[in-house]
Amino acid sequence: MSPALQRPASKKNIESFIKDMEGCLLAVIICLRPEPSEESSSPNNDAQTSEQASKEAKNVPIGLLAISNWGSGFNRHRRASLGLSLKEESRGKGYGPEAINWALDWAFQCAGLHKVSLGCFGFNHHALGLYPRLGFVEEGRERESVFYRRAWYDVVLFSMLEHEWEDLRSK
Ligand SMILES: CC(C)(COP(=O)(O)OP(=O)(O)OC[C@H]1O[C@@H](n2cnc3c(N)ncnc32)[C@H](O)[C@@H]1OP(=O)(O)O)[C@@H](O)C(=O)NCCC(=O)NCCS
Repeated sequence: MSPALQRPASKKNIESFIKDMEGCLLAVIICLRPEPSEESSSPNNDAQTSEQASKEAKNVPIGLLAISNWGSGFNRHRRASLGLSLKEESRGKGYGPEAINWALDWAFQCAGLHKVSLGCFGFNHHALGLYPRLGFVEEGRERESVFYRRAWYDVVLFSMLEHEWEDLRSK
């Protein structure tokens, strides 16, 4: 999903990615909860704090989701961009829509945003089908803006406005 040149990541790249995440309005790791049977078999279930730590240790990270805005001088616009990526083996199982809906609820209910946008590469057919299903509206296209495997693709721009989210959740 990244438009950056594909090449092995250096420690500096990783540190800079983490710094970018820390600068986001919201950056979360999407995890699968441990199965109930795994929780009850915890060896530390006597002490509440140990039990909690044990549960957390068993969460399985499957992806990342971030909401970023333009920075402090632009807050009055109350708009932000959403991005997410799941590990390959966790795709196609409905986790993405669940995470996006959670993030939209957070954006409009907690962060007071007015608009959440996202950009999707034209070759990403699964994602292009998903966003309208979740209620995102296509705004337009940045034509032939991405080079991928010797072909040019549009970036398709989607967004959801506060009142559209309200309508969706009131159904
Ligand atoms: C896009 C993404 C967040 C969607 O989340 P998800 O949990 O896979 O969403 P769903 O389970 O609803 O599946 C969406 C579609 O992908 C299909 N799919 C099935 N297996 C898949 C796989 N291994 N990989 C990707 N998509 C798959 C689903 O069948 C569904 O297709 P449909 O629209 O024809 O019904 C996730 O696939 C992902 O992280 N992809 C890679 C990174 C990416 O593209 N990020 C978004 C950038 S805009």
